[in-house]
Amino acid sequence: MQLHIFDTPEQACRAAAFLFAAQITEKADSVLGLATGSTPIPCYQDLIAFHRQGLLDFSQITTFNLDEYCGIDYKHPESYHAFMDRNLFDHVNICRENIHVPSGETDEEGAKYDEMIRAHGGIDIQLLGIGRNGHIGFNEPADAFSYGTHVVKLTQSTIDANARFFNSIEEVPKKAITMGIGNILSARKVVLVATGASKAEAIYQTMRGDITPQVPATILRTHPNCVILTDREAAAKL
Ligand code: F6R
Repeated sequence: MQLHIFDTPEQACRAAAFLFAAQITEKADSVLGLATGSTPIPCYQDLIAFHRQGLLDFSQITTFNLDEYCGIDYKHPESYHAFMDRNLFDHVNICRENIHVPSGETDEEGAKYDEMIRAHGGIDIQLLGIGRNGHIGFNEPADAFSYGTHVVKLTQSTIDANARFFNSIEEVPKKAITMGIGNILSARKVVLVATGASKAEAIYQTMRGDITPQVPATILRTHPNCVILTDREAAAKL
């Protein structure tokens, strides 16, 4: 696992954008694994800028997102699909039929998503953020690592944290569908971006702690081609 520490969050995100841009330049029909959350937004802004400058063509690109809430419509402004439209897809020349975001409320639907990823030859490059507790995707601390795309019950703390995006706590989804750790490890390259002091403990555990499903990101140390990009604050405990 390689670690690069940058002075600012913008630099860490730009470095991730460069890796994605290089992948797209090298292989026009790349399969990208994408993440939501606040961390990757500047990275998507850079990719949009590269596209507008005529440097990146998304016309043959396929994408698979990590996760989605269960039980809310794709058009709901807080769905991860709507997030991706707003922050990336609406601004580049990607073909709508090449965009994939998991959906459904059963593990069987998750298995179909995995089948689709396999049918596209697997993910070339996977973008990840990280939760304060070391979660990746919606893979929260657990007793065992998960394999494929599956449905998870959200913890009360996640539901409470998400309440600010909804009109009431009742509207906050209680379940989500997420790629598993196995999906993430199957990507040919993994790029994790972590910025801000709130991620410092998670980055410390990821780099130096025991490899354990209690800190899901620690498993990335077993990946042969994983890059961690942080700002100074997220690396402060190393
Ligand atoms: C999002 C995702 C999550 C986030 C993580 C960090 O698709 O899979 O694991 O990457 O919760 O979120 P932010 O970037 O908002 O701190």
